[in-house]
This record gives sequence, structure tokens and C-alpha cells, in this order.
Amino acid sequence: MSNPDLLSRRLLVVTGKGGVGKTTVTAALALLAAEQGKRVLVVEVDAKGNLTDFFEHRPVGFEPVEVYRGVHVITMDTEASLREYLRIHLRVPVMGRIGPVARAFDFVANAAPGVKEILTIGKIAHEVRESLRGNAPWDLVLVDAAATGHIVAQLGAPETMREFVSVGPVRNQTEWMIDLLSDPAITALNVVATPEEMPVSETIDLVGQVRERLSVPMGAVIVNRVLPELFTHADEEVFESLREPKTSEALDVAVADLTGVGGESRKTAGSVAVLEGARLAVTLRRTRAVHLQRLRDAVDLPLLYLPYVFARDHGMRVTRVIADSLGDELGL
Ligand SMILES: Nc1ncnc2c1ncn2[C@@H]1O[C@H](COP(=O)(O)OP(=O)(O)OP(=O)(O)O)[C@@H](O)[C@H]1O
Ligand SMILES: [Mg+2]
Repeated sequence: MSNPDLLSRRLLVVTGKGGVGKTTVTAALALLAAEQGKRVLVVEVDAKGNLTDFFEHRPVGFEPVEVYRGVHVITMDTEASLREYLRIHLRVPVMGRIGPVARAFDFVANAAPGVKEILTIGKIAHEVRESLRGNAPWDLVLVDAAATGHIVAQLGAPETMREFVSVGPVRNQTEWMIDLLSDPAITALNVVATPEEMPVSETIDLVGQVRERLSVPMGAVIVNRVLPELFTHADEEVFESLREPKTSEALDVAVADLTGVGGESRKTAGSVAVLEGARLAVTLRRTRAVHLQRLRDAVDLPLLYLPYVFARDHGMRVTRVIADSLGDELGL
């Protein structure tokens, strides 16, 4: 499917099953966009998230901090969002902790569906609207969002709220959010998946649910941790024939001669283990290909592929490798 032109949107939301690489992909998208000259605000929805690690930066709070040239990050905090909301919309200055308001808020938030979610999505939509009006510097707002299980409730909060409240300021507050979130020139929801059974199933389910229940436009599915094709079929045949006991013993002896190993261990230099590794690489890739095919068949969205990066830690290096791959996939 054609290039999804993701970076022309103003708001990109990234979701996916737990652990598939949402934060990695969000950080890489931010880096890529910043290097294209955009001013990026990343909103990390999970207060316990680790997004700034991907820029080798300390954690940040509700105020934007530039973690890399062109990339600002905030971490979501619903109480801070409520305070900001009261200050901006109701012109109530709230000093320090809100105490009783927060307790009332907790009560309401737990009783009424979508209150916490609306403060999250409201903050995100607020930044987008301010940037469109020229009051905030962002060319792109990027959201490291909730996982697949919660994203529909989160993005659907304004619509849920609209169903509950029919008139008044709260209703007015939901309309503009819905307008921004449902505009395909502004917003795209993207799903990260890995070529494995559960992430693929959750992605297929989510795309169906979003289309059925939300007006938020879909962007791309980002297939992360794709294994490289290390061997061709011809290589595989060679490896298989090398596994024959006689051949592998001869191989071990040859290796032992090269490395100067003597005695009985000459015959157990470990070539079988290496060949086993080659076989494992082929099998893994093949199993994952089955899940990938299922995803391709079920979802009519652009798919972007990102390689499995063999690294011990996430940090700037991995963020850069993934950003470069994303750039290639997007034709930049
Ligand atoms: N392409 C990749 N190659 C290798 N490792 C990767 C790749 N993408 C992500 N990882 C690693 O997988 C782990 C999970 O990634 P990440 O934190 O981005 O996932 P997540 O979806 O944000 O997880 P959570 O649901 O916990 O927020 C991290 O250690 C990360 O470095
Ligand atoms: Mg994460």
C-alpha cells in the first residue's frame, strides 16, 4: 500500500500490545521528524514510562523539556492537566496541590467513565489546537499512548463524554476535541506490532474496533522486530548437509587444527551448535512470516517494517537505527 505520509499530520498517536516497541517507535519517529526540521512535542501517557531513556535523558514531568534538538517531551499527569484545565477554561487559579478538588476529582473520575481519559486526551488536543493557532511551537505532537487494551477508551473519551452530557460548557469542550481527532489531515492512529501471534491478533482486533467505534483516522501499522533474512534456500541446503555426523566431525577437526586444539576435544569444536543456530534463525523467521502474512491479509493499512536491532540496551544508538529505517520506509 502507498506511503502513508505520516509526517504531514499534526498529531500521531502510537499504540500496540504491551512490550512490542511503542516507546521505541515513538522516540524514533520524534528523532526522524526533528531531523526533518519539525518541532516535536512527545506526550508520554504512561507516568511510569521510559521514553526519555531512548534519548539518554533523565525523566521529565508535565512541563516540556527538550531532550534532543527539536524534540520536547512531557509526561502525562492527570492532576496537573486538571489544574491547567481549570486555569485556562474556568479561569480558576489553582495554587499548589488541589487537595479537596483532587479528592472530588478522584471520586468523579472513578464514578463517571472517561474523566481521567478526557484529561489525557484533552491535554493532547489542547497542544494540537494551540499549535494550529500559532500559540504553541509544535509542528508535530506525538503520543506514546495506552496499549491496545485501553486506547479505544482513551481516544473515545470525548465521544463517550458527549453521550453523557447534552448541553453546556463540558459539551462544548468535547466538540472541538472530536473535530481535531477525527480530521484525517491532522490525526493518525498508528499501531505497532511484532510478527508474533498475539500482537498480530490484537492489531487486527483494534483496527476493527477503531473503525466501528471511533472516528479517529488510522495511519500505518508498524511491524517491529522483523528478523533479517540471513540465509537463502541454497545456504540452508549447505547447512543441512554439513550437519551430517561425518561432515560435522570433519568440520570440527578442521576448526581444531586452525585453532590449535588437541586431543579428544578435536572432534567437538562446536560446529553442530553453530549449525543449530543457523537452523533456529531460519525457523524463527519462517514462523514469524506466517503471522506477518496473516496481518497483511487482514489489515488494509500501509505496513512499515523495522528490523530487529541486536543491541543490549535501548539508547540513542538504537533510536537512531530505528529512525533511519523508518525514514527509508517512509521514502524520506
Ligand atoms: N526493533 C527492535 N529490535 C530490538 N529490540 C527492540 C526493538 N524494538 C524494541 N525493542 C526492545 O524491546 C523492549 C520493549 O520496547 P518498548 O519499551 O519500546 O515497548 P513498549 O511497547 O513501549 O512497551 P510497554 O508496553 O511496556 O510500554 C525494549 O527493551 C526495547 O529496547
Ligand atoms: Mg512503552
